[in-house]
Amino acid sequence: MARLGTETAFEVLVRAKALEAQGRDIVHLEIGEPDFDTPTNIIDAGVNALRKGFTHYGPSAGLPDLRKAIAEDVSRSRGIKVTPEEVVVVPGGKPIIFFVMLALVEEGDEVIYPNPGFPIYESMVNFLGAKAVPIPLREDRNFVLDVKELASLITDKTKLIILNSPQNPTGGVMTRQDVEAVAKAIGDRDIMILSDEIYSRLLFEGKHFSIAAIEEMRDRTIILDGFSKTYAMTGWRMGYGVMRPDLAQHIARLATNSTSCTATFTQIAGIEAICGPQASVEHMNDEFKKRRDYFAERINKIKGFSCKVPRGAFYMFPNITRTGWKSKPLADALLDQVGVAALSGTAFGAFGEGYLRFSIANSMENLKKALDRVEEWANKNVK
Ligand SMILES: Cc1ncc(COP(=O)(O)O)c(C=O)c1O
Repeated sequence: MARLGTETAFEVLVRAKALEAQGRDIVHLEIGEPDFDTPTNIIDAGVNALRKGFTHYGPSAGLPDLRKAIAEDVSRSRGIKVTPEEVVVVPGGKPIIFFVMLALVEEGDEVIYPNPGFPIYESMVNFLGAKAVPIPLREDRNFVLDVKELASLITDKTKLIILNSPQNPTGGVMTRQDVEAVAKAIGDRDIMILSDEIYSRLLFEGKHFSIAAIEEMRDRTIILDGFSKTYAMTGWRMGYGVMRPDLAQHIARLATNSTSCTATFTQIAGIEAICGPQASVEHMNDEFKKRRDYFAERINKIKGFSCKVPRGAFYMFPNITRTGWKSKPLADALLDQVGVAALSGTAFGAFGEGYLRFSIANSMENLKKALDRVEEWANKNVK
């Protein structure tokens, strides 16, 4: 158990809440979830489903109608042909990471994953006794991996490569050319790809391109996507994986052994999310873009901070090296001294040193308040 990591956002949230309970005013920019409510058409579908009796177990791989809706949606958005047998619905995007790793990774295997990156990847690799091989994402490359470096990290033991675009925590986005170069570097090796595309609809410019759209990579790719971010449904717990039917059956069996199934009324709401009006998705994206522009402009004027403008997701990942502070003490100081909850870049791996992550999935008013406070802090504490 000592090898299992964690997601620091949840720990910082607990600390921030404890400070609030003591009467402190805290701006929460630590947790990565849309501040919007789930759109009402989706809520209504969930409530109606409860009333109609969707209160029982369902198939482990997901309700057939939802698997069909997802297959059609992913076919459209990725430009590939997906069948319902390739879709497994699980309670969130996270269980896809957990189940896929359990299914594919053994002691002694090597897994290449982005660093800084979503901390659960590294946690699970270590937990399974495999070797965690980080591929650094660097600011000077707009936080997109260096394909030559990736090629140099691939060995005979590489079992799985994890990609994530748009990326948490950096907001980096891989273009079609980037993805094609990665596919070329992997070649015909027997390596599986976990392509975490949970932010694929949260793209500020350009078009999302999945490695699954490259014919030769299709059978080796597991697409991870879900409802949490796109439809502001984090608490409903629903996500999915798209993969070869034989692997899908194994993943569904892992679900049978653990969660049994995803809540059935949640899945009915999921059908409405995918098949219903999409205006709320566009609205949220427009808002996130405004907030990104505002945050970028202001943070770049604060002493010691500099920040690339992210191209996707809803995080800002400023470089803080010129403050003279290390990331973790700086995140602690901002929370303790001025009530701004952010995450240390190191919560996303060793290569996150020198950065902080702020979630911009918060109101303009709160972002302004947070930036005013950080600015005031920096004016006092940064030489
Ligand atoms: C990159 C990435 N993948 C997966 C997830 C998991 O999402 P879910 O809440 O649907 O489990 C997150 C959530 O923060 C994420 O940032």
